[in-house]
Amino acid sequence: MKKRYTLEQKRWDSPIEHAMPEHSRVPASFTIGNVTIAPATVLAPMAGVTDTVFRRFIKNASQFTSPLEKCHPERGAAESKDLRFAAEATDVEAETTNQQSGCGLIMTEFTSADGLSRMRETKRKRYLTYYDDEHPISAQLFGSNPETLANSARIVQDAGFDLVDLNLGCPAKRVVACNGGSGLLRDLPQIERIFKAIRGAVTIPFTVKFRMGWNDKDIVCVELAKLAEDNGLNACALHARTREDGYTGQARWEYIAAVKDAVNIPVIGNGDIRTPEDAAAMVEATHCDAVMIGRTAPANPWIFRQIAQYTASKEATGIGTYDHPTNDDRYRMIRTYFQMLVDEIAIEEAAEAARAAAIEASGQIARDQRHRDCVGKMKQFASWFTHGVPGGGALRKQIFESKNGPAVLSAIEQFFENQSLNRDAESLPLEPDESMLTSAAYCD
Ligand SMILES: Cc1cc2nc3c(=O)[nH]c(=O)nc-3n(C[C@H](O)[C@H](O)[C@H](O)COP(=O)(O)O)c2cc1C
Repeated sequence: MKKRYTLEQKRWDSPIEHAMPEHSRVPASFTIGNVTIAPATVLAPMAGVTDTVFRRFIKNASQFTSPLEKCHPERGAAESKDLRFAAEATDVEAETTNQQSGCGLIMTEFTSADGLSRMRETKRKRYLTYYDDEHPISAQLFGSNPETLANSARIVQDAGFDLVDLNLGCPAKRVVACNGGSGLLRDLPQIERIFKAIRGAVTIPFTVKFRMGWNDKDIVCVELAKLAEDNGLNACALHARTREDGYTGQARWEYIAAVKDAVNIPVIGNGDIRTPEDAAAMVEATHCDAVMIGRTAPANPWIFRQIAQYTASKEATGIGTYDHPTNDDRYRMIRTYFQMLVDEIAIEEAAEAARAAAIEASGQIARDQRHRDCVGKMKQFASWFTHGVPGGGALRKQIFESKNGPAVLSAIEQFFENQSLNRDAESLPLEPDESMLTSAAYCD
């Protein structure tokens, strides 16, 4: 058998970039049922993060580069500034292939099957909103009742999603209390009933994302993966921690390897990928078919492109290299994402105007709430996005003190204008921020 790295060896932590064997790299593609995913990278579902704006941001706008600066680093700030404003004309909606963005598959935040089944058609549409350029896209459901989950999977299929995924990993108390998410890991017979019900209800590929088990005394990941395969599921993704681990310690990749050994359906590895080297190391250590990335994505939206660059350069030269974001890149990234949030409101409002008569009474409240949500989201992302931005603390403060979307955008403009624009950001690796773990209801 091929040698595998164990977590203890941690060879990928070596500062020598090519400590990894030459062949170790993320696969160019894999298939889930009849859906081809290329490259073999997946944006993890993250409640409160991976809504349609963030998903499109990662897929279509993850290419914030400063070609002028890179080609002519000696050129001054004035020219750089011109470039910056020219960037505003950049069409972030322009189609970017998955190969270019480096992200092969995106997933929705988890959605309650109970809620989805009960919702009115119009509200459902808001929950299941996605745009044409998001394909292939998977919708994730959680719940514990087989019929309700099957019904919701049908709704997902009818809404045009390419895949449906079942969440068996959510550790949140309110989800576990209803026997959903990781709560089900203690009840394999019920999981099998759910697998059968959903499989019987839809023809699109059906996948499951799970943790290793409830705790170390009750590790079920291999058994569960076999159950998934036996019941016709098309792939499985393992976040290599138990429910009791929460997000502590290191993900135990050896369990991803054990799952991969046990089944023939594709296995997606997940947990603690922070760099392209980590992604290659996970493939090397586990032989997984694809890698899934969560917390690193909002901290470093370039991660997918960096993995693609690392893979391509490794193929070409045997040594993996990739671009590090410049200060200008960070400016574009923050500006673009926040502008996309503001634009999304406009789109929602236009759609709402069309339904004006029906919502007249509640319209103002809904509008106020949406604007509050938008600014709230900007503040949430400000903490992650400004890591590595020199003087980022001051920018965070200005954003936190802003009252509305346009005020946030002008704070960003002003901040970056005052910066020395041709200075590269510190090249420290971007670490997922601890605040991510406390900010989402997913992890309570
Ligand atoms: C804020 C947040 C929200 C999350 N929401 C979901 C979710 O909706 N569904 C899910 O299956 N996992 C969810 N997760 C778990 C991630 O998908 C992923 O399994 C986990 O973060 C480990 O991967 P990472 O080390 O790459 O972050 C969430 C994680 C975080 C930090």
